[in-house]
Amino acid sequence: MDLEKLLTDRLAPAFETVAGVPVDPVVRRSQRADFQSDAALALARRLGRPPRSIAAEVLDRAELGDLCAAAEVSGPGFLNLTVADRALGGLIAALATDARLGVPTAAEPETVVVDYSGPNVAKEMHVGHLRSTVIGDAAARLLEWLGHRVVRANHLGDWGTPFGMLIEHLADLGEAEAAQELSMGDLDAFYKAARAKFDADEAFQERSRQRVVALQGGDEATLRLWRLLVEQSERYFLTVYDLLDVTLTERDFQGESSYNHLLAPVVADLDRLGLLRESEGAACVFPPGFAGRDGEPLPLIVRKSDGGYGYPATDLAAIRHRTGGLGATRLLYVVGLPQRQHFELVYAAAAQAGWLTSPARAEHVGFGSILGPNGRMLRSRSGESVKLVALLEEAVARATALARERNPELGEAEAAEVGRAVGIGAVKYADLSSDRHKDYVLDWERMLSLDGNTAPYLQYAYSRIRSIFRRAGAAARPDAAVSLVEPAERALAIELLGFSGVVAEVARSLEFHQLAGYLYRLAAAFSAFYERCPVLRADGELRESRLLLCDLTGRVLRQGLYLLGIRTPERL
Ligand code: ARG
Repeated sequence: MDLEKLLTDRLAPAFETVAGVPVDPVVRRSQRADFQSDAALALARRLGRPPRSIAAEVLDRAELGDLCAAAEVSGPGFLNLTVADRALGGLIAALATDARLGVPTAAEPETVVVDYSGPNVAKEMHVGHLRSTVIGDAAARLLEWLGHRVVRANHLGDWGTPFGMLIEHLADLGEAEAAQELSMGDLDAFYKAARAKFDADEAFQERSRQRVVALQGGDEATLRLWRLLVEQSERYFLTVYDLLDVTLTERDFQGESSYNHLLAPVVADLDRLGLLRESEGAACVFPPGFAGRDGEPLPLIVRKSDGGYGYPATDLAAIRHRTGGLGATRLLYVVGLPQRQHFELVYAAAAQAGWLTSPARAEHVGFGSILGPNGRMLRSRSGESVKLVALLEEAVARATALARERNPELGEAEAAEVGRAVGIGAVKYADLSSDRHKDYVLDWERMLSLDGNTAPYLQYAYSRIRSIFRRAGAAARPDAAVSLVEPAERALAIELLGFSGVVAEVARSLEFHQLAGYLYRLAAAFSAFYERCPVLRADGELRESRLLLCDLTGRVLRQGLYLLGIRTPERL
């Protein structure tokens, strides 16, 4: 049902005949006609023929009759394609009766692990974790909708040397007092107090070191205190996930500590495979092809000189578990760009060890930072990193105020619900609509604006469609005859048919700004259509046909926003 794909399938055999080799026709939306193909231009040099004559021959050979009303060579050798209204109408009619809106489930479903969020115990989740949580959740939703088995892995930072001082501090405070402090979500205060004591008090330092030893040695009393820390933090993270409206649950916590029993075997196997080399007392893997700035090979330290295992060994154990244990073939790591090199080393070492081999592959779904209005890393007024919860609460408060202002008739409960959907939606959309490889600036005015590429704009478009049906007093008839008369109507139909192509592309690239951009274009096409084409005032079949277009637009917007993790209230 994807028009670009339909046209590609018709043009490809013709191009292949003319070129003698398979050629991608590169079909794209066009200003000049509905679509255009530029492939003849690229072929010209290779074939030593003028592009226009190549394009003309392709047109002669391609079977486009039922699909295109016009197909012609233009300019230096473009193919301009205008889709026939009848064909367009038929495709829209088929889309209307398809619960999946033209998007097929995966031909070969796989097990995909999405490693995302990954906050650290007894530390506040900061805005850096926001991106991971939001992007990772969109990936999980999308891949699940496509029929893959998705395993959400929340790689909680719940192990390591800082736990010595955290547990000692907890013991000093007393369990009840500590639990109280942690459940307030004041994780940073707890962490900082522990840190301050550690820096100032040598006796505390020594106790903390002994705690680490006790923790690693499995001392029951120490483990109990450690568990208390982990549980309190997990409970707090779950409240954040709830506020953020993501699909992570307590079942998805898969903390670093859960791999502890696998670390020694992992390192022993690396040794047996002859992959370990000692460097300054540490056991390292040196995957080929990685060099530091000085040209020296880069190590992945799997056992530190003090005998402890760390972050890299844990990630190796996690890979082995994910491919070998869970049978996953696609491993996604939604983690900030600064950790790129860590993951590349880990993937390379895992591949050498045979734990990450085709068809299994790992992808670092990296992302940039969130910047404040001054273009620097986002900080609170006192210069600290901004708490995620504070940011989300501000978004909800702002959106609730806006909702009340715009619609004074909204009741208290409804205003709160709309405020939450719009405020949280705005935060998530601002993130997902920007290219994840880049930094972006957090701008309240812009992200809450009802104009432009924002969540409120799309949510508003959706609610407007719902209000049409409230006024129509009936739902659209999915079997209505589709007639596309006005250009704005055709343009909307063509956008609607583009959904499946965008979804397929984003499932591969995990660049959600492509999906956001598509939804924005769709909403804009709807707006233009609604301005120019009367719906409720149209008669008979035309009214039915237009109601069907409205309904389809609403369904695609709703599904697309759902995939981004954004709610679509019936009225704003
Ligand atoms: N806890 C880490 C952090 O806050 C993120 C964990 C990412 N996942 C992983 N498998 N290493 O930076």
